[in-house]
Amino acid sequence: MSPVRAAARRKPVQDHRAHQQRRRRLQRLIGDGIAFIPTAPEYLRNADTHFPFRFDSHFWYLTGFGEPEAVLVLIGGRTPRSLLFCRDRDAEREIWDGHRYGPREAQKVFGVDEAHSITRLDAMAPELIAGQRRLLHPLGLDAGFDVRVNGWLAAVRAKVRAGVAAPGEFADVRQLIDGMRLVKERSEITLMQKAADISARAHVRAMQVTRPGMHEYEIEAELLHEFRRSGAQSPAYPSIVAGGANACVLHYVGNDAPLRDGDLLLIDAGCEVDGYAADITRTFPVNGRFSPAQRDCYQLVLEAQAAAIRAVKPGAAFTAYHQAALKVLAQGMIDLKLLKGPLDRVLESGDYRQFYMHRTGHWLGLDVHDVGTYAEQGKPRRLTPGNVLTVEPGLYIRPDAKVAREFWNIGIRIEDDVLVTADGRKVLTAATPKGVEQIEALMADD
Ligand code: GLY
Ligand code: MN
Ligand code: MN
Repeated sequence: MSPVRAAARRKPVQDHRAHQQRRRRLQRLIGDGIAFIPTAPEYLRNADTHFPFRFDSHFWYLTGFGEPEAVLVLIGGRTPRSLLFCRDRDAEREIWDGHRYGPREAQKVFGVDEAHSITRLDAMAPELIAGQRRLLHPLGLDAGFDVRVNGWLAAVRAKVRAGVAAPGEFADVRQLIDGMRLVKERSEITLMQKAADISARAHVRAMQVTRPGMHEYEIEAELLHEFRRSGAQSPAYPSIVAGGANACVLHYVGNDAPLRDGDLLLIDAGCEVDGYAADITRTFPVNGRFSPAQRDCYQLVLEAQAAAIRAVKPGAAFTAYHQAALKVLAQGMIDLKLLKGPLDRVLESGDYRQFYMHRTGHWLGLDVHDVGTYAEQGKPRRLTPGNVLTVEPGLYIRPDAKVAREFWNIGIRIEDDVLVTADGRKVLTAATPKGVEQIEALMADD
C-alpha cells in the first residue's frame, strides 16, 4: 500500500463550467493551432512508493482533473476541440490506490469533447498536429515531454511530401495561461478566502500554544493540525517556524530548535485549498510580551506594511507598494540608529539592504509565488481588479558590532494576502491578529 499516493488524490470538483470556460478562452488565444498541457510527472521514491503527487497548476486550472499521467490537448481555430488523455480504469490498481476515472467517465465529468487512454497519445498526436499552424506546449519545462513533442513533429514532417502541413510556429503555452491566471475569478477568490481563513486560524492556534521551552516543530505540528482538520489538503509551501536568530534566515525550514524565553518567533505558513494557496507571516514573542526593542522594530514593520497595503489599488504600478514599504522602513532604520541618514542617501545607496533584503511581495494563486509577469516592455505592470498579491515587509538584524546589542537576532516579517478590487483592496488574511496589544492579549489568554 502506498498511503502517500492515496492521500494525495484530489477529490473531484463537480462544477466544471469554470474549467470549460477557461478552455474556451484559451482556445481563442491559441487561434489556428494546437496546445499540449501535461499534468505534473509522478516521481518514484523507491520500490512502489512515490513522492507525494501534486498536479500541475496550469493543467488543474483548465481541467480540475487531479490524477497523474494526464495531458490536455486543445485545438483552436474554426473547429475547436478539447481532448483529455488519461489513465485507463484498472481494477487491480484501484484496489490499492483508489478510483480512477478512465476516459469514458472523465469525458462526462470533466466536460471535454473527447477523452482517450493516455496510452494512445503518441499514436494520435501526429494526426492532431497535422495541418495546424502553431504548436504550443510548456517549452523546456520537462525534457522528456520536449523529446516526445519533437518525436510527434518529426512524424508529421515525414509526411509533408504526401501533402501534410507541419506547424511552423512554436510557443510556450504557459505564457497565455499565465495572463489568464493573473486575474482571479470569483470562484478562485472564494477558495483563496477559504485558504486564508484556515491559515489565519492556524496562526492564532500557534500564538495560543507557544511557550518558552517548546520546540519549533511542536508549533509546526499545531499549524498542520489546523490545516488538515479544516479540510486543507496540505501546506502551500514548507512552513517556516523560526525562533530567535533563525528568523534572520529567510528560507529557514529546519524547524527543530528550542524556543527561548525573550526571543521572537517568526511563522511563515499557509495552506492549500483545492489547489489555491494562502501565504501568511506573523511574528510574536515566545513568552507573550514584546521587549521594548522588539516592540519598536515590530511597530516599524507594521507601519511599513500599512503604508504598503494602502499603495495597493487598481492602476498603481506593481512596484509602488514596495517603494512605500521601503520608505517607512528606511526612515525607521535611521530613527532606531541602525543606519545613519539622511533618508535619500539610505534609499539611493541601498544601505537598507543590510536589514531588509527582499522585495515586498509577489503574485499569489494556485502557486505561492504565482505565475504572471511583473513588468511589461520594461515598465512595471499596473495592478488590476482580480490580482492577488502578498504584502510582506520585514526587518532582519544579524549580530553586528555597529548595531546595539538589544537589536541582535531580531527577525520580523508581517505578511498578508491582498486582493485588488475595483475601488481599492481587500485583505483576505485580515482575520490573522497582528497588533501588538492584540497579540499580547491573545497569548495571555489560557
Ligand atoms: N512563503 C514564501 C514567501 O513568503 O514568499
Ligand atoms: Mn510570500
Ligand atoms: Mn510567506
